[in-house]
Amino acid sequence: MNEPQPRSGDDPRTARPLLAAAGIEKAYRHGTWPARRTTPVLRGVDLTLAPAEVVGIVGENGSGKSTLMKILVGALAADAGTVTHTGRLGYCPQEPVVYERLTCDEHFELFGHAYAMTSEAERRSRRAIYAALGFERYAGTRADQLSGGTLAKLNLGLALLADPEVLLLDEPYAGFDFDTYLRFWDLVAERRTAGRSVLIISHFVTDQERFDRIVELREGRAVHR
Ligand SMILES: Nc1ncnc2c1ncn2[C@@H]1O[C@H](COP(=O)(O)OP(=O)(O)O)[C@@H](O)[C@H]1O
Ligand SMILES: [Mg+2]
Repeated sequence: MNEPQPRSGDDPRTARPLLAAAGIEKAYRHGTWPARRTTPVLRGVDLTLAPAEVVGIVGENGSGKSTLMKILVGALAADAGTVTHTGRLGYCPQEPVVYERLTCDEHFELFGHAYAMTSEAERRSRRAIYAALGFERYAGTRADQLSGGTLAKLNLGLALLADPEVLLLDEPYAGFDFDTYLRFWDLVAERRTAGRSVLIISHFVTDQERFDRIVELREGRAVHR
């Protein structure tokens, strides 16, 4: 946490990684004895994320992308391997985790407390997020009244709130209209300029040039392409 932050101009290939995973293995167990089976999903994944890098993770449905991201953020335990990171992580899960009865504003307040932000810092960040993603008019709307697209913006906004060094996004733009998709990429570009890193899972990559690197999960391993 107190280590010097690399400058954004540093070469990502030589700068100290913000996030590093080595030899990650994971299998899911199904059923009960004697019909118990295990399905290996990750078979030794190595992945690093340097300062100011935007990295994409692609792979077929069921290739283990969400499993890997849950392990990277510590939401799921790996069977083997190590994950190390410096600085804060912000995670946007594939399925939004929200409280139906709370409004957007109340979500930001709650998460601001969880991140130990001052209320001034939380409000400043919240306003910037509403403006960047264009959903301030839903500030007072309860989560159970939001459209899928606005819910996706709230999900992303909550991951951004504390300005994490590393942002991990699991299919963040699946529910976005084109305007929001472009706003999203502006936001990612701003983070890169500020020396922040972003790891983005996508089952389709149409704009390959927006990523610094793309990693494919294939047969349980990360293939750098
Ligand atoms: N909690 C779970 N229990 C059992 N199997 C799971 C669980 N979560 C995911 N799987 C299985 O693991 C594989 C990888 O899933 P996932 O990581 O969600 O892939 P992706 O995000 O690439 O679509 C799939 O075959 C999925 O069915
Ligand atoms: Mg997934």
